[in-house]
Amino acid sequence: MSGHDHGHGHAPSHSASHAPMRVNLHIWRQSGPCDSGRMVAYPNVACSPDMSFLEMLDVLNERLQERGEEPIAFDSDCREGICGMCSLTVNGTPHGPRKGTTVCQLHMRSFNDGEEIFIEPWRAAAFPVQKDLVVDRGAFDRIIQAGGFVSVRTGGCPDGNAIPVPKEEADQAMDAAACIGCGACVAACPNAAAMLFVGAKISHLRHLPQGQAERKRRAQAMVDQMDQEGFGNCSNYLECEAVCPKEISVKVIAEMNRDYLSASLTREERKADAGGAG
Ligand code: SF4
Ligand code: FES
Repeated sequence: MSGHDHGHGHAPSHSASHAPMRVNLHIWRQSGPCDSGRMVAYPNVACSPDMSFLEMLDVLNERLQERGEEPIAFDSDCREGICGMCSLTVNGTPHGPRKGTTVCQLHMRSFNDGEEIFIEPWRAAAFPVQKDLVVDRGAFDRIIQAGGFVSVRTGGCPDGNAIPVPKEEADQAMDAAACIGCGACVAACPNAAAMLFVGAKISHLRHLPQGQAERKRRAQAMVDQMDQEGFGNCSNYLECEAVCPKEISVKVIAEMNRDYLSASLTREERKADAGGAG
């Protein structure tokens, strides 16, 4: 991680000005998964301070295409902070300098006229680069497939109002459900750990009555899948919480560990029982 302040007290120089600005970009270019990749300089890129960061890249891509050059590949979909597709590391910080902000919601007024800006993809072995700034986050999908759901075998769907949920529990579930699966937590972690993401998905369901039936099995399956995908372990750097655009608290990691430990003990008891019976 860079030594960036994660947005506290950020004072953009263009906040009071709508004058055009220019930035000097350094962007990771990589033709495919087997290419070793390199940083390429794009000096003097003109933009408006009111453009989003991705709009600024759109304009650069138009210029590149006009010159017959290959546009820069980068991911985006909603561009309003809800889908988790955008995945750029800006000046060493996943999603850039503003706290609680996805890179699609970052504006150029957060930067200075003439600033050097370095743009890279997420860096983690479990998120291999596909092209330029696009990485494969299929590992997250496979973790969700392992247990991040309530099975239909738990019964039909009752009226939501028929199941009372204490306010505090509902709030904790909703806080965890804010995770958009972007992967910034992995990109920020020196161990490339995915525990904030997995913890959020587990916490979301463990605070709701519908999530109780499969609570232990879910924790076991999702953590096992996380390990198989090659993510690292948490050693409390807390960089994940600092860069998370949805400000997910690391307390979800403690909840995940509690459920996983509980599931492991139950599994050991079952094994012992089975051994005794044999
Ligand atoms: S925990 Fe935060 S940083 Fe990690 S995937 Fe979810 S929203 Fe993104
Ligand atoms: S493009 Fe959807 S969150 Fe950024």
